[in-house]
Amino acid sequence: MARNRRFRRLLSVVSAGVMAIGLSACSSGGDDTGAGDELTTIGFVAVGPEGAWRQANEANMQETFTKEAGFDLKYAPATNLDQKSQIDAFTSFVDEGVDVILLSATEGSGWEDSLKRAQEAEIPVILIDRGIEPDATDLYATRIAPDNLQVSKSVAGWAAETFPQGANYFVIEGPAGVSVVNERNRGWNETIGAKTEFKKLGAQTANWSTEEAKSVFETVLKSNKNNVQLVFAQNDEMGLGAVLAVEEAGLVPGKDVKIATIDGTHNAVQALADGKLSFVAEYNPLFGETALDAVKKVLAGDKVEPYIIVPSLTFNSPDAAKTALPSRKY
Ligand code: AHR
Repeated sequence: MARNRRFRRLLSVVSAGVMAIGLSACSSGGDDTGAGDELTTIGFVAVGPEGAWRQANEANMQETFTKEAGFDLKYAPATNLDQKSQIDAFTSFVDEGVDVILLSATEGSGWEDSLKRAQEAEIPVILIDRGIEPDATDLYATRIAPDNLQVSKSVAGWAAETFPQGANYFVIEGPAGVSVVNERNRGWNETIGAKTEFKKLGAQTANWSTEEAKSVFETVLKSNKNNVQLVFAQNDEMGLGAVLAVEEAGLVPGKDVKIATIDGTHNAVQALADGKLSFVAEYNPLFGETALDAVKKVLAGDKVEPYIIVPSLTFNSPDAAKTALPSRKY
């Protein structure tokens, strides 16, 4: 059954493309052949509102899996980042018998049962950005995301170069239990964690939020009498919050305290151009086309890599940021 269904779906994806071309070629509104007008249904178990990066990523998915491209994308953002709402949406997509499920998990753990149900229903699942823990690769077709380990290692590498004598530093983390948070900590610690000249003053979550990061770092500056030279903020919004805290303390961001972030959103690249941030590692959200390619391969029964890495850039100076700004898409 699955193979026929997959073949029928693949047929619809391919012929939708052909039909779109046909329709454009002879705008006489040629008759529908029937086979091509069945859309491939995609259930997107998404995160929903969570900052600039998430907005860019989920908009890019919706702009890619269009009806014109042969898809019916059912977008199900979580309610207040709540995993239960995601599991409920996942379950209804399985019951509905969608052709593929895209999953951006708000929590890393707790997905085994849902993934097993999709597997029994022979519905392939593709992880978008976020991983699952433990990483049961036999339960999903592939994960598509930039490499968090490499991205955070690039930040650590910059810090090691920038502070050859070491520094007192603080880590502002994303929410506990999210795979990318653990991966970013691992990448950072593998480099900086091993250097005794770097003193870790602490780490605290600020839930990807500028406001929370500002108040977290205000407290850190006070309790350390401003003796903090370096901040690793796990996303741009939190890094910009740390900038506000530094300014509030009468210090100069980029001079008294150097702040490095991950994401590469426009506001952060602008803040680097202005010298307020000191390093920005991109975490490229625009991988809709990569996901489309993976969906087609999975529907055709073709093999896909268990982890498809999306390339990402780094920006290590105001000049690099100024050069990049005009072409930033998110
Ligand atoms: O999972 C990726 C992270 O989620 C981004 O770095 C952060 O901005 C987003 O909210």
